[in-house]
Amino acid sequence: MVAGLIAAAGRGERLGGARPKALVGLAGKPLVGRAAAAIAPACDLLVVAVPADADPAPFREALAECGVVARVCAGGAARSLSVKAALREAEGADRIVVHDAARPFATPALVQACLDALAEADAAIAAVPLTDTVKESRDGRFVDRTLDRSRLWAVQTPQAFRRSALERALARPDRELAAATDEASLVERDGGRVRLVASTPRNLKITVPADLELAEALLACRTR
Ligand code: C5P
Repeated sequence: MVAGLIAAAGRGERLGGARPKALVGLAGKPLVGRAAAAIAPACDLLVVAVPADADPAPFREALAECGVVARVCAGGAARSLSVKAALREAEGADRIVVHDAARPFATPALVQACLDALAEADAAIAAVPLTDTVKESRDGRFVDRTLDRSRLWAVQTPQAFRRSALERALARPDRELAAATDEASLVERDGGRVRLVASTPRNLKITVPADLELAEALLACRTR
């Protein structure tokens, strides 16, 4: 059984606006509904983690608006804590798909490719090779070094996990979980095998207002 966990408990401060980011509309439909609908066909059960101090009603409405049936739970103070809270609601599932509410363009095919890759790994994550040259700077003013781009991948969600690997990864102290930017990095630290699954830059994450403009433009192209 496959459970999809949607991390939708972020504030979206970099996007601005009064509402939680997951409720922001993209071409009239809320991000959380779009993200959940995108992964729903590959999942038997969906759990959506929403801000603990927010009224869950608008989230339920946003999901219903996109035709999604999902459990809603209170998220945590950081992304991996939200995923941990959602995992508690997904009893019975042996494979888990973690997905950001902020990624409305995932496809069921991409989710399925991640799930299929679990045959040879503990986790399988959507990723694209980097096209920009990446530099490291400690002070944010001067460059210390340039990384070898040929070996670098930008990682997205969906990320699929064998349940045992994700449970072990999330069994860390909250302080460690709060520092993680994705759950696959925790599996890596446990010595687990993490498989890259080729994705596309179209599976973009809505973080700043410019991302929303890009997403609106992408949708407009599709419907033209
Ligand atoms: O902050 P960032 O854009 O990296 O967040 C990625 C995803 O994690 C978003 O969909 C956001 O809603 C979610 N998140 C969460 N709980 C938090 C912080 C972020 O579910 N406490």
